Amino acid sequence: MMRSLLAAGLMCVCVMAVAVTKTSAQGGGQGGGQAAPLQNLQVLPKDMARPDVIALMRTFTVALGVQCTHCHVGTPQERFKDDLPAKATARKMLKMVMAVNADHLGVKPGEPNKATCYSCHRGALKPLTAAPAGGF
Ligand code: HEC
Ligand code: HEC
Repeated sequence: MMRSLLAAGLMCVCVMAVAVTKTSAQGGGQGGGQAAPLQNLQVLPKDMARPDVIALMRTFTVALGVQCTHCHVGTPQERFKDDLPAKATARKMLKMVMAVNADHLGVKPGEPNKATCYSCHRGALKPLTAAPAGGF
């Protein structure tokens, strides 16, 4: 019971934050003007506002069951660095998820995404690839 309540909550956060991303992809960085610009966005829109990026990053941690440091080294000012293989994998995953939504699920710019990191990962680094034996 606790588990399914938690999962429902996490799912909600995930969908919301991905919607934020889509909005900022359209609107062009309003809001986060006070902070220094982000330096190394290669998949996300380059002008995406820092608070929107951080909100999306929080969905990554929840979806995969990890901390920021699974993909990032050093201080919060060093998030631009590409030292960890998990960050490169996450970029590929992000491209895949954006393509699935746009090309296969008909999600238009500004609409909430239908597929997210959570759709597969469900709180784990390694998604299950088959139903448990004897489950049906
Ligand atoms: C699963 C891996 C992963 C996790 C976990 C993660 N990030 Fe990221 N982060 C990325 C990737 C990938 C990018 C680059 C996206 C791109 O190239 O468009 C990024 C970029 C960033 C940037 C932009 C840096 C710059 O200047 O280019 C910030 C800031 C950031 N992350 C903060 C965080 C914070 C804070 C957390 C924890 C709440 C976090 N990240 C967790 C993968 C991750
Ligand atoms: C279609 C299902 C699917 C989706 C959606 C998905 N992933 Fe994955 N992800 C996988 C699979 C499968 C693996 C490989 C696990 C293994 O090696 O056994 C993986 C592996 C990873 C890894 C490497 C795990 C490690 O050991 O460090 C990272 C990081 C990752 N995914 C991030 C993400 C992020 C971030 C998103 C959302 C932007 C995402 N994934 C969306 C299926 C998915």
